[in-house]
Amino acid sequence: MIAGTEQFDNRRRVLEATEIVALVGEHLALRAKGREFVGLCPFHDDHKPSMCVVPHKQIFHCFSCGAGGNAIDFVMKYHAMDFRAALEFLATRAGIELVWKKSAKPAGEQGQGSTREQLLAAAGQAQGFFRAILRHPEHGAAARAVIEKRGISPEMVELFEIGASADRWDGLFQVINTKGLDQKAFLDAGLLKSRESGGAYDGFRNRVIFPIFDQIGRPIAFGGRKIREEDEPKYLNSPESAIFDKGGTLFALKQAFRSIQQSRTAIITEGYLDAITCHQYGFTNVVATLGTALTERHAAVLRRIADTVVVLFDGDEAGQRAADRAFEVFFAEPVDLRVAVLPDELDPDDLLKSEGGVDRFRAVIDSAMDSVEFRYGRMVAALDASGRTAGSAARARVVQDDITRLTELGLNAIPPIRRQTIIRKLARIAGVDETTIAASVKASKPRAAARDARATSSEKTTAAVVALSHLDYAFGCLLLEPDLVQTFSTDGEEILKRHAYGSGPFRAVASVFLELSNSGARVETATLLGEIEDESARSAMTGLLARVERECRDGSGDRLMDYWNDCVARLKLEHTTSTPTESATEATALAERLRLARERHERLGDRVLIRHPTTSVNR
Ligand code: UTP
Ligand code: MN
Repeated sequence: MIAGTEQFDNRRRVLEATEIVALVGEHLALRAKGREFVGLCPFHDDHKPSMCVVPHKQIFHCFSCGAGGNAIDFVMKYHAMDFRAALEFLATRAGIELVWKKSAKPAGEQGQGSTREQLLAAAGQAQGFFRAILRHPEHGAAARAVIEKRGISPEMVELFEIGASADRWDGLFQVINTKGLDQKAFLDAGLLKSRESGGAYDGFRNRVIFPIFDQIGRPIAFGGRKIREEDEPKYLNSPESAIFDKGGTLFALKQAFRSIQQSRTAIITEGYLDAITCHQYGFTNVVATLGTALTERHAAVLRRIADTVVVLFDGDEAGQRAADRAFEVFFAEPVDLRVAVLPDELDPDDLLKSEGGVDRFRAVIDSAMDSVEFRYGRMVAALDASGRTAGSAARARVVQDDITRLTELGLNAIPPIRRQTIIRKLARIAGVDETTIAASVKASKPRAAARDARATSSEKTTAAVVALSHLDYAFGCLLLEPDLVQTFSTDGEEILKRHAYGSGPFRAVASVFLELSNSGARVETATLLGEIEDESARSAMTGLLARVERECRDGSGDRLMDYWNDCVARLKLEHTTSTPTESATEATALAERLRLARERHERLGDRVLIRHPTTSVNR
């Protein structure tokens, strides 16, 4: 369980080289408040500074939405990166090199395949090459003509770093040879193809090249549009690889990231050129899928930066199916999905370039329909069209019949407020009252327990904002000051065990804590966070830490000892009272003690050390 791996070492080195206040401060405005720093939380629509950064624990925590963790968590969340990308980002920022043991690398990188680093290097080389070709007087002429004909502005050519490949078999191939580069990674990345007779040739020939970037702006793949009408396919895309997950990547995310984050709204289109044209006409929060349907991975990227996602589809049957798919993918996510239907078989590119196009396009976006309404609107329309009665009973049935599907999609795991909103919409569409819908929802069980993963994702932040008991607070004291465990070993261990063997939100954290402290180590926050993979457990932990930190160490002096003593005393009292006693007098005496204790706490008013927040703590 305790990792001594390279991976862990990289994590430790990155954390040691990163000052969390500086890091967070690069992403949002922070101001000092006591021993903490506070600012507006970037992970929800914050109006008062709910985000706090605790320098001496090197953690951040939002008192409103519950987001929290260490510097790596911050980067993962803010830039919607996976763990490894966040490590690389922070390592680059701190100017340190990561060391990966062969065995510590993800499966795809072992054995024969190129490593991520090699693939990234190859893509970077190719990107430089394609850019140079576009500028080449002779070899770039055809691509420049296409760009001009399509009305792509020079600004967009720069912003999207558009390139070209020449009409020959050995353009990139020669560059690789001249520079003495290893062909292997280029072959694995689809930039070169091998000949049966040996040797290799260019993968992209005579195409306008649209580079596809990862979230820290590195090229990871290319989409090449044909220049000659008779060529096939219309778009040639890089194959998937250790650095390119097609179904999880969005074109133009690099260019749209800021705008999406600021407006909290993302617009999804279906084509490279559609996305570029949208940007050109001022719709800077537009991204595009890469010729695949929307997936959960797309949703996972977007839900971290947007509250509203608008999907743009053609009015045709394929568009409708795509909209259904989007509904399913986003249903359980904390994102409002809206569906915008394009008129007259126009794609955004055509529409924007038509007469009055910008206004027409804006109107399409503004009239985007709520995805729940959209889904049932279609079903009811289908009913109407089939000539069957579309009376109120039929409408109600459409909704009722679909509730099982919604349950499978995770309806019951959606936090109550959002779920209630959905139920309200369903009731309105079905023309029945909310209690009827709520009852069907309650009665409906998902056919398979397949939605577990979603349940955890939508419940992710709740652990950090639930009401805490004094057992929780006592554990918080241990997190804040691990030496307490040695000093008060009996109490400390008891508290740890009750958490570790219980079922509360701190279970995972406590069991690692117990394990580490049994091995004689002083349990540092960074070490603990490094050992816990589950995101909800991590944010529960940082939430608790931040709260106890506030309770004990704000303002004058260090109240931690008082706080701890009080927690322990309350726990003992609870424990004693919950033990059945034989003698009635003894029971009466206990009750009296309990009453006195309560009174004392009430009298102490503000000085009461143990608070029981019943709702989230918003300050
Ligand atoms: P479209 O055929 O709608 O093309 O494909 P487009 O984007 O409008 O391009 P233009 O305007 O005709 O030049 C939509 C998207 O589907 C993917 C690409 O991502 C494309 O942008 N696609 C399409 C492919 O990956 N391969 C293909 O052969 C065609
Ligand atoms: Mn098009």
